[in-house]
Amino acid sequence: MYKVVFVLGPPGSGKGTICAQIQENLGYVHLSAGDLLRAEREREGSQFGALIENHIRNGSIVPVEITCSLLEIAMIAREDANGFLIDGFPRNEDNLAGWKRQMGEKVNEQFVLFLSCPVDVCIDRCLHRGQGRTDDNVDSLKKRVDTYNQSTFPIIEHFEKLGMVREVNSERPVNEVYADVVKVFAAANQQ
Ligand code: ADP
Ligand code: C5P
Ligand code: MG
Repeated sequence: MYKVVFVLGPPGSGKGTICAQIQENLGYVHLSAGDLLRAEREREGSQFGALIENHIRNGSIVPVEITCSLLEIAMIAREDANGFLIDGFPRNEDNLAGWKRQMGEKVNEQFVLFLSCPVDVCIDRCLHRGQGRTDDNVDSLKKRVDTYNQSTFPIIEHFEKLGMVREVNSERPVNEVYADVVKVFAAANQQ
């Protein structure tokens, strides 16, 4: 059984930043669904490059069969891991249903880390991210925020009803956010 923590929050809430630090210090392997999709988009011979780019620019969600397979392949490659941080997934009902179908029997979902941050702060961070992403522009960000509100937040609410959500306010300096995140992991791993 793979131990899994889902990391969710609006675009720019700091998921990648915090996951990198947890990976470094707590031995979980960080898998960003967005990073895996961008790598697949760039992979020579991929039949999904154009489809992925269309979804990324439109802030819409790639069909789960593609994303979940990329995640599973990455997990198999790191079977030695203590646990996995699945960053930016599941983002909608399709993601959640496909994950349950493909991975439900193979994983132990520990909790959901929810990085909460006001949308205007998140948009500002994305516009200054400086990674040359094709979706860090005002048009795409509007669509990404709509997708977050309409499709992703209900998934967080679903996990909340199951008592699985650990919310950390990420509208603060990274070191303060991280200090609270470490407490969440410490509590979960004591159980
Ligand atoms: P996400 O993966 O949730 O989209 P990132 O971790 O890529 O977010 O962060 C988006 C941008 O905001 C990056 O430029 C990052 O350096 C910056 N950032 C992340 N966390 C914070 C924070 N707590 N305070 C200020 N800036 C942050
Ligand atoms: O998480 P990140 O900001 O890197 O995601 C960028 C884009 O990748 C999303 O806006 C979406 O188009 C795509 N994505 C997806 N399904 C996921 C995660 C990301 O389609 N589960
Ligand atoms: Mg990210």
